[in-house]
Amino acid sequence: MSGSERIPLARPVLAGREEELVLEVLRSGMLSLGPMLPRFERAFAERLGVGDAVAVSSGTAALHLAVRELGWGAGDEVVTTPLSFIASSNCLLFEDALPVFCDVDPVTLTIDPAAAEAATGSATAGLLPVHIFGWPAAMGRIEEIAEARGIGVLEDAAQALGTVCDDGRQAGARGNPAAFAFYANKQMTTGEGGMLVPSGPEWAAAARSERNQGRAPNMKFMDHDRLGFNYRLTDLQAAIGIAQLERLDELLAARSEVAAAYGERLAELGAAPAGEGDPGDLVLPASDRGKERRSWFVYVVRLPTGADRDGVIGELDSRGIDARPYLPCIHLSDLYRELLGTREGQFPVAEEFSRRSLALPFYPGLPEASIDRVVGELADILGRDSRS
Ligand SMILES: Cc1ncc(COP(=O)(O)O)c(C=O)c1O
Repeated sequence: MSGSERIPLARPVLAGREEELVLEVLRSGMLSLGPMLPRFERAFAERLGVGDAVAVSSGTAALHLAVRELGWGAGDEVVTTPLSFIASSNCLLFEDALPVFCDVDPVTLTIDPAAAEAATGSATAGLLPVHIFGWPAAMGRIEEIAEARGIGVLEDAAQALGTVCDDGRQAGARGNPAAFAFYANKQMTTGEGGMLVPSGPEWAAAARSERNQGRAPNMKFMDHDRLGFNYRLTDLQAAIGIAQLERLDELLAARSEVAAAYGERLAELGAAPAGEGDPGDLVLPASDRGKERRSWFVYVVRLPTGADRDGVIGELDSRGIDARPYLPCIHLSDLYRELLGTREGQFPVAEEFSRRSLALPFYPGLPEASIDRVVGELADILGRDSRS
């Protein structure tokens, strides 16, 4: 790769049997509701060590069906994090439930259990933690709070395939309904797609019906016994998913390698570990802790307080490097300000992170030379010496 080639933010790696399996689907003529779909679901469930998994057209669709499984609706409040992709709270609005935000832990950036507990009240029907950036939410504490109140938990594991929680169990495989997502920048992709891990066989059957316009498996064509949607994943997408799963360990390991290389280079610049350092420091993402394991989804650093983050992004762009402000707080979007009256200052930890956050190019196999170039340019822009 030449030194001046553009470095993208993300890139899928489709180097396994994707083409072969997609061709198999094309030649079979069964592009949707064919045999690849259950094959993909079985392979995913096996990989996660859960009883069943229901493939759908997106992570958002998986979240929506999970909200329906939990029965959250009008009059219900669900406590969740504002530091997430907007779909993790929009899924509540789809069913007229109300997201109630609380602040996040300053190191892990996942929902702060104490803040979550303080945000619960008589209308609270559940908790919706997000394993943001592939870091595990504090599930032990979250589940304790839910159990004490007799309310449900929905895990947004869209960014967390391969994430391990503090008790050594995988995110999304704990018996709570959980949603995974397979957009092209995720740990594995189907182009677009998602997976619902239901909490039991009854809910798996309901989700399979709801993703397919409310049809029951034994019903005649065009007979419907419940409200449903078109949340189907095609067999072409399922074929890509099977091939990606076959190489998941390799893909995850390659992501970890890139993250480790970034960590080393940035530490040489004087970047501080998450939770340490001064406001004037560049801060690294949190590292593994006890049994907690991050599954690397994105590489997001915190710029020094006061740095012109958008200016840095513009500079990187002019030097051929894609970077993004990742991610904005949900409660500060125009939609939520208008709907819920949320405003700046409500969740200072999430807001401060969000202002300083910068996602750097990150994908399996990102070459060392590109990592060096990104870090070198960032150092130059921030006025630091990357060689000292
Ligand atoms: C935390 C989180 N939740 C939900 C989603 C929604 O997934 P999808 O884009 O597949 O609908 C995403 C997608 O990036 C996400 O990051």
